Amino acid sequence: MKNKARAAKKPSKPQAKSAMPVGEFDQAQQAANFIHAQTKLRPKIALVLGSGLGAFADEFAAAVKIPYADIPHFPRSTAIGHAGKLVIGKVGQTPVAGMQGRVHLYEGYSVHQVAFPIRVFARMGVQAVILTNAAGGIRLDLTQGRLVLISDHLNLQGANPLTGPNDDRFGGRFPDMTMAYDRKFRVIAAAEAACAGVAMPEGVYAALAGPSYETPAEIRYLRAIGADLVGMSTVPEVIAARHSGIRVLGISCVTNAAAGVIDQPLVHTEVLEVAQRVKGEFIALLQAIIPKIAAELR
Ligand code: HPA
Repeated sequence: MKNKARAAKKPSKPQAKSAMPVGEFDQAQQAANFIHAQTKLRPKIALVLGSGLGAFADEFAAAVKIPYADIPHFPRSTAIGHAGKLVIGKVGQTPVAGMQGRVHLYEGYSVHQVAFPIRVFARMGVQAVILTNAAGGIRLDLTQGRLVLISDHLNLQGANPLTGPNDDRFGGRFPDMTMAYDRKFRVIAAAEAACAGVAMPEGVYAALAGPSYETPAEIRYLRAIGADLVGMSTVPEVIAARHSGIRVLGISCVTNAAAGVIDQPLVHTEVLEVAQRVKGEFIALLQAIIPKIAAELR
């Protein structure tokens, strides 16, 4: 009984529930209110910075850094390479919210907890999210170090953050996903990449639950069904964002050839090393893209 009471007080710990927790809207509102109380900035753009890419938020001007642990109901990231802070600051003249690290299904969090930060952004009035991740390259031209614009996804995680009763205050029951990755944002990102002399092809991202990497047979299967990239994140966030009408830009950093594409085993340290190596290029690109996206918003 005692343990139960203690567990109930710590909603940020992994839960194995699949139904939408009661009061998710109010929890998101509380978190948004808490964040708004820390700063006068009111970002319309939020970034989720994946493995090794969190450093970008350290460059925001006039920044406040809020540990996830301080934000009511916010999940805490346990993955290596994820600092676990929300940074609100400015990129040029544009106020932004940057998540240094995210939580994943493989950490034991429910899909609702994984998507919760996006719910909070929706309550903060965020209109666009830039989701970044590390991914394995399935398509042969998507080699180590490449940045790839996500054009579409395959949800193979066996989970969807909209499972359970629908809260219409977030959005309708059956959100459209035909244009999940905003076409205008992709045009902007591709133009900025071209300007910087960075090749940034488009690709379809397949999300698996992990945490084991895929087998070569699984990669052949993923290629056959149309995947160009594979990873363990992003898709729940995209679904939650689209549910609330938030526009999405997704960029993968290819940290490794997917299993069996080349004759080498996969190691997580390599994933972090490569993310570290392309960080400069990635950050310069985000800096160029953000003001252009800001100009697109209401
Ligand atoms: N598979 C799944 N997730 C990943 C990979 C991969 O090869 N690389 C980085 N994240």
